[in-house]
Amino acid sequence: MSAELKDPHTEPSLRLRPMSLSDVPDVIAVERASYAFPWSEGVFRDCIRVGYLCRVIDVGGTVGGYGIMSYGAGEAHILNVCIREDLRGHGLGRKLMHFLLDRARVAQMQDVFLEVRPSNPTAIALYVSLGFAQIGIRKAYYQATGGREDALVYKLVLAGG
Ligand SMILES: CC(C)(COP(=O)(O)OP(=O)(O)OC[C@H]1O[C@@H](n2cnc3c(N)ncnc32)[C@H](O)[C@@H]1OP(=O)(O)O)[C@@H](O)C(=O)NCCC(=O)NCCS
Repeated sequence: MSAELKDPHTEPSLRLRPMSLSDVPDVIAVERASYAFPWSEGVFRDCIRVGYLCRVIDVGGTVGGYGIMSYGAGEAHILNVCIREDLRGHGLGRKLMHFLLDRARVAQMQDVFLEVRPSNPTAIALYVSLGFAQIGIRKAYYQATGGREDALVYKLVLAGG
């Protein structure tokens, strides 16, 4: 048993590895426990197949979270960032975001975009603390209980000022 599995909360190191198709059942379990309107297994498989940056946080051989980002033509899009509920609030989400932003920088992306629900203040606080600024709203973008919810569009300028 690894040290992380014994006590992940006192040792929030980030062990990342590429997400494979065989990870999808474990990833989807975390996804379903995390979102009222989770992605389907097919969406995760498509992200892997089309070559998006898909990383799993390995916590003692279990899926502790994951991050998915597409990039090209100067723009990166962070599509999903999720930490397993029992591991939240210990810095893993911030580390995962730093990893994704570093990868976008290395790939010489100028801007990073993401969408977030207004009802998700935890994620918004994380993004704002990293320098993201809201640039727009997509009306009725998300499914929501009893209707639709807007998406807030956030952008971080990485390069070239
Ligand atoms: C959003 C999420 C990825 C953050 O991951 P995390 O590992 O819990 O976050 P961290 O411990 O790294 O904390 C990062 C920041 O998030 C914010 N945050 C974390 N927990 C919080 C809480 N309970 N209340 C308010 N803000 C909180 C803080 O700004 C924190 O920064 P600080 O530690 O300097 O105060 C995680 O809550 C999650 O997976 N949520 C479910 C999925 C989701 O909503 N993903 C984002 C979709 S856009």
